[in-house]
Amino acid sequence: MADIFAVGIVGSGTMGAGVAEVAARAGHDVVLRSRSRASAESAVAAIETALGRQITKGRLTVDERDAIIGHISVTDTIADLAECDLVIESVVEHLATKRALFAELDAVVKPSAILATNTSTLPVVDLAMATVRPERVCGIHFFNPAPTMRLVEIVRPLTASADTVERAVAFAERCGKEPITVADHAGFVVNALLFPYLNNAVKMVERGTATVESIDAAMCGGCGFPMGPLALLDLIGLDTSVAILDTLHSEFGDTNYVPATTLRRMVSAGRLGRKTGSGFHQY
Ligand SMILES: NC(=O)c1ccc[n+]([C@@H]2O[C@H](COP(=O)([O-])OP(=O)(O)OC[C@H]3O[C@@H](n4cnc5c(N)ncnc54)[C@H](O)[C@@H]3O)[C@@H](O)[C@H]2O)c1
Repeated sequence: MADIFAVGIVGSGTMGAGVAEVAARAGHDVVLRSRSRASAESAVAAIETALGRQITKGRLTVDERDAIIGHISVTDTIADLAECDLVIESVVEHLATKRALFAELDAVVKPSAILATNTSTLPVVDLAMATVRPERVCGIHFFNPAPTMRLVEIVRPLTASADTVERAVAFAERCGKEPITVADHAGFVVNALLFPYLNNAVKMVERGTATVESIDAAMCGGCGFPMGPLALLDLIGLDTSVAILDTLHSEFGDTNYVPATTLRRMVSAGRLGRKTGSGFHQY
């Protein structure tokens, strides 16, 4: 089983930045690729700010922060990922975009490398089949925020070799995570169970059962959840949430997965949650 040293991350949004931080903290050399160098640089600046808060709380030293940041380089060029042992794709939840990206990565990244996706729901096998190395493609699904959430779902498409899955599990463990291995079924474990609940919370707002604040408070105070469902949708991103629900609905046909109308309208209005400063709550 070949070790993973250099890690490429494609996409510098909410998850790409978080996964870059996690991999760099574990001592990997990380190349963060975004379509524009400026977005990759601003993702690294955001990581530095987040690490600064850890220093203030006494959880990290200045030297440790500098070492983590020193492990991350940025680029806008896919070819700069050529020498990575593992590339984790974390761009928008859209199958055609991800397939095109996997074909592009396959052509430039060394043949022994693993290509992984952080998709929440899309069929990993469809990404594997966009490459000539389907046995070295799998899902490595981190949770949001990636630096703090312990779980990682390692998704095993029908095409993946046992070695690929073992290396992905070892990588997640080296990052201090608790991986579970799951079949390539939409939503894997967590999102398949979580999203009907989140969607029903939006329908409850539509019916006027209670306010957004009361529903969130109810699930924290009544169930011990750390965050209410509407705050969690804002954290995930409403555009990503609609894409996840659409895929779950098309895979299982269960109408519980049809996105609530309000969710779609909020996406059309550009109220995507925390990342735009406005969603069910204001940020
Ligand atoms: N948000 C979550 O809670 C969460 C959790 C786990 C996994 N994921 C998955 O991670 C992936 C990224 O989600 P995110 O929350 O970081 O989204 P985001 O909206 O924060 O970031 C998306 C990234 O994709 C890039 N992008 C958009 N269109 C593109 C295109 N046509 N080609 C290349 N890049 C493009 C954007 O520039 C941005 O860097 C998705 O597959 C999502 O399902 C999200």
